[in-house]
Amino acid sequence: MRKQFIAGNWKMNLTLEDAKGLARKLYDGLKGSDKVDVGVFPSFVFLKEVCDILSNSKVFIGAQNMSMEKSGAFTGEISGSMLRDVGCTHVLIGHSERRTIYQETNSIINSKLKAALLNDLSPILCVGEKQEERDAGKTREVVKNQLSEGLLNLTSEQVKRLTIAYEPVWAIGTGKTATPEQANEVHAFIRDTMRDKYDDDTAQRIRIQYGGSVNAENAKQLLGQPEIDGALVGGASLDSNSFLDIVSDAASFS
Ligand code: 13P
Repeated sequence: MRKQFIAGNWKMNLTLEDAKGLARKLYDGLKGSDKVDVGVFPSFVFLKEVCDILSNSKVFIGAQNMSMEKSGAFTGEISGSMLRDVGCTHVLIGHSERRTIYQETNSIINSKLKAALLNDLSPILCVGEKQEERDAGKTREVVKNQLSEGLLNLTSEQVKRLTIAYEPVWAIGTGKTATPEQANEVHAFIRDTMRDKYDDDTAQRIRIQYGGSVNAENAKQLLGQPEIDGALVGGASLDSNSFLDIVSDAASFS
């Protein structure tokens, strides 16, 4: 059985004081509970302080992006080893906002995944279709392509360290969540694709989170689906009560 994994993507939000306050509330609220894996993904500049606050907890801390390069003249970039230095264990790769606003291609995402793994970071690879792609019946094609190009030349051992987040772009920040059945269907397809590409053991082990307008009201129904192993939460992760409620919902399925 796969352990549920609830992750909060704080995106470009919060002040330093707010981020520290939120981290402290999560520290208090999550004490003693380890039925569910929990992770937070603050802005780069808050990582060190959030890591310090959560260092005695089981909460994973990750960045929202990283460079594919090791080091050198890449002004403004942050390397995997820098992330390790400040205490990160995880990193989001290929979020739809990176893909669409910053033109990250599957090939860039593939290089970033490799760089993350080289630095012993566990990536959450985000995939998902746009509204027009769903309307054109292309959801499977788009997701399959994101997986096959994104995971190019990665071994099953490497892939076992990954979490995949299915985040339909039309559901992100829109309040328009996929129905539990819609999400479960794509999750099952992702798992089948992983089985075809690797093997049954890899496919069964990999956790697939759902993301897109998850909140304390709809989480239980989504997380209750057999192929949904957690959530990647945006807006609702900025409020400690909502986020902790989602974690409790996940615990009821562990
Ligand atoms: P929302 O939960 O705000 O829709 O964001 C989802 C997301 O993009 C998480 O990575």
